Amino acid sequence: MKKFSVVIAGGGSTFTPGIVKMLLANAERFPMKKLVLYDNDAERQAILAQAIKIMLDEEVPDIEYEYTTDPAVAFTDMDFCMAHIRVGKYAMRELDEKIPLKHGLVGQETCGAGGMAYGMRSITGMLELIDYMEKYSPNCWMLNYSNPAAIVAEACRVLRPNSKVLNICDMPVGTLRRMSQIIGTTPDQLEVDYFGLNHFGWWTGVRGKDGTDYTDLVKKYVSENGYLNQIEVDTQHTDASWQETHKKAKDIYAVDPRFLPNTYLKYYLFPDYVVEHSDKEYTRANEVMDGREKQVFDIARNIIKTGTAKDNGFHIDSHAYFIVDLACAIAFNTHERMVMIVENNGAIANFPDDAMVEIPCIVGVNGPEPICQGNIPEFERALMYQQVMSEKLLVEGYIEGSYQKVWQAFVLNKTIPSASKAKEVLDDLIIANKDYWPELK
Ligand code: NAD
Ligand code: G6P
Ligand code: MN
Repeated sequence: MKKFSVVIAGGGSTFTPGIVKMLLANAERFPMKKLVLYDNDAERQAILAQAIKIMLDEEVPDIEYEYTTDPAVAFTDMDFCMAHIRVGKYAMRELDEKIPLKHGLVGQETCGAGGMAYGMRSITGMLELIDYMEKYSPNCWMLNYSNPAAIVAEACRVLRPNSKVLNICDMPVGTLRRMSQIIGTTPDQLEVDYFGLNHFGWWTGVRGKDGTDYTDLVKKYVSENGYLNQIEVDTQHTDASWQETHKKAKDIYAVDPRFLPNTYLKYYLFPDYVVEHSDKEYTRANEVMDGREKQVFDIARNIIKTGTAKDNGFHIDSHAYFIVDLACAIAFNTHERMVMIVENNGAIANFPDDAMVEIPCIVGVNGPEPICQGNIPEFERALMYQQVMSEKLLVEGYIEGSYQKVWQAFVLNKTIPSASKAKEVLDDLIIANKDYWPELK
């Protein structure tokens, strides 16, 4: 069986150790020849990378392993690049959340003004990775889950249309896991129908692979509890703020009970509620820095100090198995059915061909083949159109360095109530992002 060479870009990510463990756990179906960690922050990456080296030496000494900040070393002779970078790191995430809140607007990593600010930073970092990959390994595939995925995907569509980049989000998979608990089965026994944009979509059907329709059962549960489960078995999305988000899906569902909503719709449908329930001084970025980041880096430092990862090692990121599903689909032409972010091209019949939409696809050796979803209802179509045009204008504004277009993107975003608010928050974000954004004129 072929063994694969994998580079993880964003080697210093809080998710890297869990994903490496997940890759090891899946070694039978996805064997690795070589693993390289790549980051542009040598110091941050080294802490995790040294601890991972100790773990690999103990568990799988035959895998070649390196960590580097040199793109030539990182990207040469690679089959897959798993990309999870955060341009500007948590310091900038904190500002993405706090600056909009200061203006009474939703402060969120991927939605609204903060999401657009992050998007304008991510495009540059992602293009850099794609260009390195194509220079050093033209046949390599990039499996990207760097955020904000909707904006990154649109930028790739426009600026790197022929690149082998697949954009995927873990929210559809994470929610499927919750649905499987509601139904009393496992996610691998289910399949879904879904349409939308990234962090902006709806499930139209949930069924067993044997054909049993579970949609009404899940709807009834969500109408009472949202996606909040009775027993928490997930490793991700368990902090208090996430529990609130799972619960809030009940109210999103009430707006249109035809479909099961993505939890991220709360930022667009209930922005006033979200702002009222946000702590302007302590946001999700703070929760993550004091929680996941601290925990992962403490474990790493302890592994380095004790010289072993045997006890008190990293936790496996089991929710990330979908990344291996995707890699296997490409490598072995498995025709896995996966919800992915792809160019519409008619899959949603009454939506623009050139919109990046999130829909189920059949994934094989040449990438995803989108599954037709037909016409969607006017309510969802109108919401999606407003949002997708906001994303498109943002990317155009980035490319052209156009203040006007970026402002329009902010005005169109449903989390921002007026053109004057849009201008106020944009002007603050321009100052905060001066080291990252192209100059806007
Ligand atoms: P993190 O800040 O811990 O890690 C990101 C790493 O990227 C840092 O070590 C940073 O130095 C590095 N980096 C930044 N710019 C870079 C560049 N140009 N080249 C190379 N490395 C660079 O962040 P995190 O919370 O672990 O999240 C990582 C990413 O994964 C984020 O984009 C996050 O939004 C995303 N994410 C996506 C999903 C999904 O479903 N799509 C799920 C979880 C996390
Ligand atoms: C979900 C989303 C990701 C997002 C993450 C944030 O998984 O699908 O796109 O990055 O949540 O999680 P965090 O724990 O960093 O707030
Ligand atoms: Mn996501």
